[in-house]
Amino acid sequence: MLPKDRLIFALDVDSLKEAEEWVLRLKDYVQTFKVGKELFTGYGPKVVEKILNYGANVFLDLKFHDIPTTVAKAGVQATKLGVSIFNVHALGGKEMMLRVIEDVKNVCIKDNLESPLIVAVTILTSLGDKELKELGITRSLSDEVIYLAKLAKDSGLDGVVCSSKEIVLIKNKCGRGFKVITPGIRAKDAPVDDQKRTSTASEAISLGADFIVVGRPIRSAKDPIKAVRGILEEIEKF
Ligand code: C5P
Repeated sequence: MLPKDRLIFALDVDSLKEAEEWVLRLKDYVQTFKVGKELFTGYGPKVVEKILNYGANVFLDLKFHDIPTTVAKAGVQATKLGVSIFNVHALGGKEMMLRVIEDVKNVCIKDNLESPLIVAVTILTSLGDKELKELGITRSLSDEVIYLAKLAKDSGLDGVVCSSKEIVLIKNKCGRGFKVITPGIRAKDAPVDDQKRTSTASEAISLGADFIVVGRPIRSAKDPIKAVRGILEEIEKF
């Protein structure tokens, strides 16, 4: 994979116009744009269509979590939209994950579509050991993350979204082919904003991340193109 293919830009903006401007500005440097709940709730599938029309890819970050039938149907719609990656909550359970894999596979065969990567969110990074206890989960945070990653792997998912701290454990437990997407990327000494478990792009890649997700370090940079070039150079070293 080229460095450009491993960098995912988080389109965390609240207008379609701004989203389009970022895609136009960055599309020569970034292959995949992450569309989350804000943009998708506001503008729907046309956001995805616009990005695809510029020749870029979409990671649809809607973190599906519902009964198996509903998630499987949402996954089929995401596949028909042409996204390259979408995600579900591993806490939705094994049956839910098995169903979404099966239904996406079937629609790809039926309609001759390319299958997106289907990845799991394990435990949200906003939750810590204390919050897990509140939810009645008795495993430690890292044990629970690894447990859910393995469940996702056994259900046929392609990978997980996880912080740099968990990459090595997950690759050891689930195999090198199991994809890891890592957000929380910050340059050394840069503000961490609301991220708790951060790493530099080169740390994440050297630990085994297949993709990194970067938002504010590019969006808030004085010179976003310079920031993106710096990240691509870091990726290229490995
Ligand atoms: O701006 P920043 O680089 O922190 O953006 C990171 C992106 O990755 C945001 O869109 C955020 O929602 C997403 N993300 C995350 N941590 C996770 C999963 C997704 O920061 N565990």
